[in-house]
Amino acid sequence: MKVTVVGAGAVGASCAEYIAIKNFASEVVLLDIKEGYAEGKAMDLMQCASLNGFDTKITGVTNDYSKTANSDICVITSGIPRKPGMTREELIGINAGIVKSVSTSLLEHSPNMILIVVSNPMDTMTYLAHKSLDMPKNRIIGMGGALDSARFKYRLAEAMEAPISDIDGMVIGGHSDKGMVPLTSHATRNSIRVSEFLSEERLEQVAADTKVGGATLTGLLGTSAWYAPGAAVSGLVQAIACDQKKMFPCSTFLEGEYGLNDICIGVPVILGRNGIERIVDVPLSDAEKAHMKESAEGVKKTNGLLDV
Ligand code: LAC
Repeated sequence: MKVTVVGAGAVGASCAEYIAIKNFASEVVLLDIKEGYAEGKAMDLMQCASLNGFDTKITGVTNDYSKTANSDICVITSGIPRKPGMTREELIGINAGIVKSVSTSLLEHSPNMILIVVSNPMDTMTYLAHKSLDMPKNRIIGMGGALDSARFKYRLAEAMEAPISDIDGMVIGGHSDKGMVPLTSHATRNSIRVSEFLSEERLEQVAADTKVGGATLTGLLGTSAWYAPGAAVSGLVQAIACDQKKMFPCSTFLEGEYGLNDICIGVPVILGRNGIERIVDVPLSDAEKAHMKESAEGVKKTNGLLDV
């Protein structure tokens, strides 16, 4: 199993690290445009191998796509990250050009790849990949919902003073502060609805804190987060590589599902060796349906800024 991660910045390197630590891939290629940077990150990570007990071989390359040839899974993390006060949508001008050229180069060398898009604004970048590459829709996946759901579970556990392993919950919709749709009515603690433990007011606060999860970290760190984004990507990569058939909310091209068309947005999917193997239709409450519709309108507005 060969995995390429483009962008050796904080998210890309953290993603490579988590993939290696889970020890399921034979090879990870880290590619960056900055001379020597990916090589340095790869060497540092490889020096963790004996300490952390993994056999995954990590190599770093400067912009040489021939080294990514025949990758099974490729991840794009490249592009500029958010600065405090910026929305993900404001990154579109620079990141669209980067995502288009990186994804085209990846496909040239790995015609059978499954592509995971992480660059922001993620749903629009996933849509751009879908429109500009000649690839089946099940092989193009946007990573946002897995991260937002992890942040949702963190906030629920915090509010209930419960261990996170007790909590289950999902966030669908667009990967943006306004677009996320935390499925509070479906969230549980050991199969009991969270509304049994928390007041409506507290649950609204949990949902609000979840939606600004990325912005909160950007404010604290001065740039966007990397540990949880890297861990979330590695979860998707592992589900595909190990054919786990796990369910995650991912951004995928919709053709009628959830009443939406011609859009990539987060919905629950089953991930296995063929990428997105199924889109799961979850019954939504009227409020969640309205929220999802509004979220889709926001994503479409951002898509309108693309030149596709
Ligand atoms: C975040 C970025 C990765 O939400 O979108 O932290």
